[in-house]
Amino acid sequence: MRTKGFAPDRRTTIGLMAALMGTTFLTACEPKVEPASDDSAPLALVRSAKDVHSYADPNVARVRHVDLDLTADFRAKVLKGTAALTLQTAPTARQVVLDVKALDIEGVTDASGEPLKYALGTAHPIFGAPLTIELPQGAQKVVVKYKTTANTQALQWLDPSQTEGKKHPFLLSQGQSILTRTWIPTQDSPMVRQTYSAIIRVPAPLKAVMSAEMLTPDGEASPGNGDLRAYRFKMDQAIPPYLIALAIGDISFRPTGDRTGVYAERATITRAAVELEDLEKFVAAAEKLYGPYRWGRYDVLILPPSFPFGGMENPRLTFATPTILAGDKSLVSLVAHELAHSWSGNLVTNATWNDFWLNEGFTTYFENRIMEEMYGKDRALMLQSLGYSSLQETLAGAKEPGLTQLHTDLKGRDPDDGFSDIPYEKGAAFLRLLEQTYGRKKFDAWLKGYFTRYAFKSMTTAGFVEDLRETLLKGDPGAEDRLKLDEWLYKPGLPSNAIKPQSEAFAKVEAQVEAFTKGTPAKSLVTEGWVTQEWQHFIESLPETLSLEQMKDLDTAFAFTSSRNSEILFAWLKLAIAHRYEPALPALETFLTSQGRRRFVSPLYTALMAQKGWGVDMAKRVYAKARPLYHSVTRATVDETVK
Ligand code: BES
Ligand code: ZN
Repeated sequence: MRTKGFAPDRRTTIGLMAALMGTTFLTACEPKVEPASDDSAPLALVRSAKDVHSYADPNVARVRHVDLDLTADFRAKVLKGTAALTLQTAPTARQVVLDVKALDIEGVTDASGEPLKYALGTAHPIFGAPLTIELPQGAQKVVVKYKTTANTQALQWLDPSQTEGKKHPFLLSQGQSILTRTWIPTQDSPMVRQTYSAIIRVPAPLKAVMSAEMLTPDGEASPGNGDLRAYRFKMDQAIPPYLIALAIGDISFRPTGDRTGVYAERATITRAAVELEDLEKFVAAAEKLYGPYRWGRYDVLILPPSFPFGGMENPRLTFATPTILAGDKSLVSLVAHELAHSWSGNLVTNATWNDFWLNEGFTTYFENRIMEEMYGKDRALMLQSLGYSSLQETLAGAKEPGLTQLHTDLKGRDPDDGFSDIPYEKGAAFLRLLEQTYGRKKFDAWLKGYFTRYAFKSMTTAGFVEDLRETLLKGDPGAEDRLKLDEWLYKPGLPSNAIKPQSEAFAKVEAQVEAFTKGTPAKSLVTEGWVTQEWQHFIESLPETLSLEQMKDLDTAFAFTSSRNSEILFAWLKLAIAHRYEPALPALETFLTSQGRRRFVSPLYTALMAQKGWGVDMAKRVYAKARPLYHSVTRATVDETVK
């Protein structure tokens, strides 16, 4: 018999604790353990950081390793099985606290199968609930038997009709920021690095892939389990739990080099492999800049179109949207970005979600350096410039000044509230300021050293400052003021010493925009040889006051409405909505219902909703149709707009 969870109002010690934890976090009275040497952050300020988005108290009992045995039931749309957690505990630890959300907990045992007492606290709508498990003296393992539910936000179960191949269903997971707790009961904090292994049982002929070493690329028969096949994985390097990732589908693989390759639905694999044929060179370029790639293989999985992000840096296996498959490699900077996270984010991880800019700002900077290596300075400057313009736009429209700081205060809020261009582009702009202040040579040596010093550790903004003071800024007491360090990190807006990227190519594009607005017909503009980024900049630089004739003239000359490049189409559709340009509406509807990338769909719905008496009805009608096709992450954002 397994011990059932009991309601928190039962006045047992543990029930009381759980009741308290519904509103506040567990504060342990036990003496603290020294964290083990492999994650003892060298900086005092990092060691003392507190993750306000997790119920866990890892200083009392810390998850070190997760062992999953899960079966995918595509009919019920649930994963079910066990998570066995290996713990490191303080000598006096009496319980371990996990984060769980929308999970059906069926029982908890120790390693030998003996039931353990546990209690589930009150569920918070964003953070979920603490799962507090009583630990017998010296216990080092707990086994949680559970099922995911229809409310499990990390997982999206796709019907065959939502895939490219149309024949088989698909499952994908998205853990960042705090959604791993909706499919794995663990300590869901980026400060609690954990190794993992998994057995994933899936119905033939589907294949499972994970952000880990694939031990059985073709699966194994699963005796006594009908047509289930078992796939085994292991990740021996300790990672933050938001990087545990799974996808299941009619997936096939093409190598692109010795240590790189592409996974995609069988129906997409050829297109994907051609688009990403330079993957091996990307890894080489990244290594040349900032040191060895530490994760073994680097593969990219192209997902079905409902994947809510452009990309997600799951270790060893980047997850990516098919909307980057433009046919001409023009949108591969996204892969440079996710690859760069193998250093910034996956090796050196933001300790808390308030330090998110340490992941994304560093990565945006690094991404651009990879693009410069691969495609040259001009292309890199164009990309920087596009980023800088969207930063300006975000700053101009920001409703909460606090969210334009690099270091944010998201206590009590969804980490997703801090998601915008700010951590990416303001963060990258700050690193470019450091680069230009100290020179590339010195800056690069520092950044490479930073990745080495803090590899497999978590980093806070204060820890970053502490490091800077001991390295780049050492022996120069005036440096912090000149850099406006405090303002960059802890104040809203963009400091006056930000350096605006100057792209000569874009200056020429702007001249063409001016010519057009002054009456030159579209077909007479000088656009020969323009790459995707120049077209993007052209469209984004057009004023929102064009006449219908001018919109038609552009569309006739350049066929924007029928563009097959997702970035060009997206930029054009935004402009089309602003001008109430109706010939683009069928393409808009197709775009909104054929992919679910949040960065594309959310701004388009916002733009439609802003067109009172014209766009609102369409937004509502199309969203009603598209919503079931979107991942929960995209739904949550668009739900705030279309209502
Ligand atoms: N790690 C992010 C995606 C993310 C951030 C997911 C926060 C959940 C919470 C990923 O690396 C990313 O930044 N993706 C971008 C693409 C990139 C080229 C800017 C995206 O999806 O648009
Ligand atoms: Zn990123």
